[in-house]
Amino acid sequence: MKRIREGEGTFWVFSGEVSKKLPVFYNPQMEFDRNLTIQILREMGIKRYCDALAGSGLRGIRAALEGGVSEVVLNDSNKKAVEVIGRNLEENGIQGEVYNRDVNLLLRAFRYNKFDAIDIDPFGSFIGALDSALRAIKRKHGLLCLTSTDTAALCGVSMKTCVRRYDAHPLRTAYAKEIGLRILIGACVRMSARYEMAINPIFAYNRRHYFRLFLETKAGIKSADAMLRRVSYLQHCFKCDWRGYTRINEFRRECPRCGNRLEWAGPLWDAEFASSELEVEAKRGGDELKSFVELVKREQDITTPFYEIHHLSKLHHVASPKRGDLLQWLEGRETHFSRTGVRSNRYPDLYDFYRTKS
Ligand SMILES: C[S@@+](CC[C@H](N)C(=O)[O-])C[C@H]1O[C@@H](n2cnc3c(N)ncnc32)[C@H](O)[C@@H]1O
Ligand SMILES: [Zn+2]
Repeated sequence: MKRIREGEGTFWVFSGEVSKKLPVFYNPQMEFDRNLTIQILREMGIKRYCDALAGSGLRGIRAALEGGVSEVVLNDSNKKAVEVIGRNLEENGIQGEVYNRDVNLLLRAFRYNKFDAIDIDPFGSFIGALDSALRAIKRKHGLLCLTSTDTAALCGVSMKTCVRRYDAHPLRTAYAKEIGLRILIGACVRMSARYEMAINPIFAYNRRHYFRLFLETKAGIKSADAMLRRVSYLQHCFKCDWRGYTRINEFRRECPRCGNRLEWAGPLWDAEFASSELEVEAKRGGDELKSFVELVKREQDITTPFYEIHHLSKLHHVASPKRGDLLQWLEGRETHFSRTGVRSNRYPDLYDFYRTKS
């Protein structure tokens, strides 16, 4: 084991290739995501926080050290992880409740003693623990912090897995990651509605191999119904790349641009996935974190999934325009999903673009 520093803490961790095979899991590359989590916990004034799959305990301990959290519960089903968590708590002078249970058993036990925030950071998908988390989270102003690494399922490489896990149809388009993120949010909204609870995505994103969601709870039938109205379907044309959200009773047969047969994805979230009110400080996590958050916030103006420039130019048999030029012409937005993607309310017809430019 080695001793490392992260944020304001010092931690004992196992080093080596990052994989499930480590005696206790630790991934230095997730520091960015931990920094963001700490800031959101602080911003929301979270006091009672449960790190339900805590690994080496970095996230929960940092939440107590830096995130303004006063009560922290750390859990992991791996015995060795629990030992490491104990050692790391001591190392940082933090008092925490530590458990060695299956995540669902732990959260069920806390259903009458709810948390302000629950973090589920598994290998794979959080969906198997979502129901228990919804029962153990405060119904008002609670915060669910969820990670999913099952990109293959969500982005349509393994379609049937997505249908089984999320009861939703993915689609292998050039913007499949955005469909994946929207499917995840949609699944959470639908599941929380069963408990007459609404969940609002205050910040959600895709990075490297994972999706991360921060969802705020709001109790009440009206809010739950309002959120459900933002769960719809997406139709897509593989011939011209047209796409549009639609209600189930308004499905189109043919592409309104080129008449080709349309494919579909969903149910999925069709609204904003980041709140304009969320603020993060540059001092924690540096400028990279702040500019990332601002980028995700800015792209919320346009909810139609982004267009991948190279894909469009291939379909149109023209050269790829510079992103800046295309954005200006479209009055569009950049997107965090791709450096070569543009968001636009208008279909980016590249023939028109080159015609107006010449
Ligand atoms: C990706 S790691 C968590 C990393 C940690 N959040 C961090 O930031 O360092 C997933 C952890 O979940 C634990 N785990 C896997 N299945 C579990 C289950 N059913 N219940 C509780 N813990 C589980 C694993 O032992 C592993 O430590
Ligand atoms: Zn078309």
